[in-house]
Amino acid sequence: MSFTADRLLLFGATGDLAQRMLLPSLFALDADGLLAPDLKIVGTARSQMTDGEYRNFARAALEKYLPADRRGRMAEFLNRLSYQPLDATTLEGYDDLAAKVGTPQRGLAIFLSTAPSLFGPTIKGLQSAGLTGETVRMCLEKPLGTDLASSCEINDAVAAAFPEDRIFRIDHYLGKETVQNLLALRFANIMFEPLWNAAHIDHVQITVAETVGLEGRVAFYDDAGAIRDMVQNHMLQLLALVAMEPPAHFDATAVRDEKVKVLRALRPVEPAQTVTGQYRAGAIQGNAVPGYDEELGKDSDTETFVAIKAHVDNWRWKGVPFYLRTGKRMPKRVTEIVIQFACVPHSIFEGKGATMQPNRLVIGIQPEENITLSLMAKVPGLDREGIRLRSVPLNIAMPDAFSGAVRRIAYERLLLDLVEGDQTLFVRRDEVEAQWEWVDAIRAGWKADDITPKTYTAGSWGPSAAIALAERDGVTWHE
Ligand code: BG6
Repeated sequence: MSFTADRLLLFGATGDLAQRMLLPSLFALDADGLLAPDLKIVGTARSQMTDGEYRNFARAALEKYLPADRRGRMAEFLNRLSYQPLDATTLEGYDDLAAKVGTPQRGLAIFLSTAPSLFGPTIKGLQSAGLTGETVRMCLEKPLGTDLASSCEINDAVAAAFPEDRIFRIDHYLGKETVQNLLALRFANIMFEPLWNAAHIDHVQITVAETVGLEGRVAFYDDAGAIRDMVQNHMLQLLALVAMEPPAHFDATAVRDEKVKVLRALRPVEPAQTVTGQYRAGAIQGNAVPGYDEELGKDSDTETFVAIKAHVDNWRWKGVPFYLRTGKRMPKRVTEIVIQFACVPHSIFEGKGATMQPNRLVIGIQPEENITLSLMAKVPGLDREGIRLRSVPLNIAMPDAFSGAVRRIAYERLLLDLVEGDQTLFVRRDEVEAQWEWVDAIRAGWKADDITPKTYTAGSWGPSAAIALAERDGVTWHE
């Protein structure tokens, strides 16, 4: 499997993801000399377009979505592109597609960024045209199903043509630099790992808050909801990286073996340990925004916010709650992981009037890439009236620490890993299925108990019940 593909075939080449992420990422890699000089990129989608028209389409997408500081000469990149129209649902057309792809010298990477309903027919079409051979890798973009059963169906369809070591399932959170940095923090430093367990950690919080609403993805989102859109994939991957045992190596098998053990150890969650919400009209950073029902144009029971108190039932994490929350139309965009350490076992300062706060590690993933460790320190003074201690932050702003480094978006990393054949940051089938199993059980509990989302005002941190979910354990969400 260790070859660098010299052909990349993009299904969904005219779609939103291709325009916003894939083409800009490929361009940026090319501009930095990271793509093999002979890599040809073939786009395919239903629209009729010539190669020239697709290049114009791609140019427009680059001009619109590339940050100004990363634009450059486009002609060479555009020359790598060609286009073949295809109705993916019928077998006709795949031979022409194969002809357009030509004969790769080393190998072909295929990226499916289409509706999952097209995955099955696409695989059949590729098989019929001889595009599933041993030097072909298959990359799948989410959503991979809507529950365990539909995810298994997709995985079976893909497995009929590709062995697992040639399947690359994207979870773009794994491509984020700060998410990978979590592994460096845990496993490249001696001081955290001995404390990283139930004896020293009180609880963990994972927040993925967004200010955006539906963003025009009405049908998709209303069928998915926050738990399937964000928790089933991104948040559970973050949780797995926080909770996993140290892998012996940083490679695809070792890392994924450890993550899946965590996902399988997730305790089934009772509905009372969850809170769901749906936003109503409000204001975000001073701008009025409509409610979900207004954006959708009808009433709906889909949750745009979910909070869950989860547990990993294994030796390391016995009794440590993992509070997860994600929502649309929150007051600010923030993805962060909070590790709340336990109190010191005995305070020598107690008799001197000092109060202590336990240490806290906050790993900011976006928009700010910061690692902040709060430590107790003595307030300067002569202490005639007792010792005063205060929590002070030890703060590392990653952009300052690595000011010369290029900040790359997740898809740049993931596309390069796909082309080069490294699966470490892609999700294995057993992980996806463990994720679905846990999420399906939560959704079944909601259904059985007739739970519908509570409303919350756009621009707030979700329904007040979400605050209560943590507060009844004496925990305050980090804001
Ligand atoms: C996607 C979800 O997977 O992730 C979107 O479908 C969400 O609803 C997006 O907005 C968030 O990604 P990021 O990288 O902006 O945090």
